[in-house]
Amino acid sequence: MVNHFLDDKFMKDIIAIVLAAGKGTRMKSDIPKVLHEILGKPMISHILDSLRQAGITGIITVAGYGSELLRYEVKNARIIVQKRFLGSGDAVLACKSGVGKYSGDVLIICGDTPLIRADTIKSLMEKHRSSKASLTILTAELKDPTGYGRIVRRPDGKISKIVEETETRLYEEVINEINVGTYCFNAGDMFDSLAKIKPDNSKKELFLTDTIEILHKSGKTIESVMIKDEGEIIGINTRKDLSRATRILKDRVLEEIMSNGVTIEDPSSTTIYPGVKIGQDTIVHPNTVIESDVEIGKGCRIGPFARIRNKVCLADNVEIGNFVELVRTRIGCGTRVKHHTYLGDTIIGKNVNVGAGTITANYDGKNKNRTIIEDGAFIGVGAILIAPLRIGRLALVGAGSVVSKNHNVPKGATVLGVPARLLKANKKGDKR
Ligand code: UD1
Ligand code: MG
Repeated sequence: MVNHFLDDKFMKDIIAIVLAAGKGTRMKSDIPKVLHEILGKPMISHILDSLRQAGITGIITVAGYGSELLRYEVKNARIIVQKRFLGSGDAVLACKSGVGKYSGDVLIICGDTPLIRADTIKSLMEKHRSSKASLTILTAELKDPTGYGRIVRRPDGKISKIVEETETRLYEEVINEINVGTYCFNAGDMFDSLAKIKPDNSKKELFLTDTIEILHKSGKTIESVMIKDEGEIIGINTRKDLSRATRILKDRVLEEIMSNGVTIEDPSSTTIYPGVKIGQDTIVHPNTVIESDVEIGKGCRIGPFARIRNKVCLADNVEIGNFVELVRTRIGCGTRVKHHTYLGDTIIGKNVNVGAGTITANYDGKNKNRTIIEDGAFIGVGAILIAPLRIGRLALVGAGSVVSKNHNVPKGATVLGVPARLLKANKKGDKR
């Protein structure tokens, strides 16, 4: 029983059920379909984030195939396991005891439609509430509706049923208004109609979509909201769909970044994950990948062929050049890291020059260790900096040096060699 999470606010509000039990046979994979990633995040997490952004906190995820993997991935979501995979209708029925006596609105969303925006979910809920409908369905008009359930309307425009792709007859096949797989139901009407559906179809499944005809025939109000942006509705059933969704999301992210005053020289070869922040007048050169949790300041130059991984923060006017990989690293204003370099778990100050081929050896086989390089330091080409290590302000590390761990380089000093030895101490204060 999972009734305990149906708190008061949520009871008055809305419950969302995410259908994610299917194996995704068409993906040809050992992992559950909804765990396949789009720009670094599993499909299911894209959906959970959009639901939360829309203000929905009461979320039930229906898991089935690989439910343990799913539980691990979506740690703070409530999961109900569907024991038999008898179709989307059966998946919702599996939540009946979890939903209990709740009689408000239930939003159903398919775990394999990850690009639906929070605003779209909100407008579906608003229409549902303002029209006091039994059911409000999200639809879209597609030039090619192949693969989707078709919305059948009466001559007066009212929705009378949804016909699944596998069950369409010739005249239904040409309908181009499709079911996105997101619905807002009145809980009572939903479970009443679900009790009446039968697996009378070629797949021998209980189709959630069969409830529509039942509700229509019993005189209930069925409303719809049509999505204009085709990019939002894609349902992922195959690897080809997955790559299309990735492309769509990439374009969405790049367009937003460009609209904030950033130059993306070649969008087709640039990948930037959602949530990355980039300041005005920064230029991103081709073949660059910028992953999650990254913040880049104004007037920076990134790439070509740079890979900026998670938890990186670059201040203004930083240059990151070709074949540079950064992870868990902070870099101060005006610092240049221009060629063939790896910096991990590193904090770098202002106006530092990191020479070509510099490597921070941050991993000792057990722990990730930190390298600190203070303002104005100069790291010669091919240096290996073995962490934990601190390179002082205005210090100089000679080309090809290997600086051993904990052999901190004092302020203004020069070190050189393998292993690096002190060549010149800083005797004149801040001047090297
Ligand atoms: C479904 C809709 C279709 C809609 C399309 C949108 C039904 C019957 N059809 O078709 O009208 O156009 O989505 O993308 O709902 N699932 C379970 N348990 C099951 C079976 C499925 O949880 O026993 C989940 C799947 O994990 C998936 C969702 O339900 O997230 C939809 O199932 P899927 O097999 O992808 O249905 P479609 O053929 O895409
Ligand atoms: Mg699907």
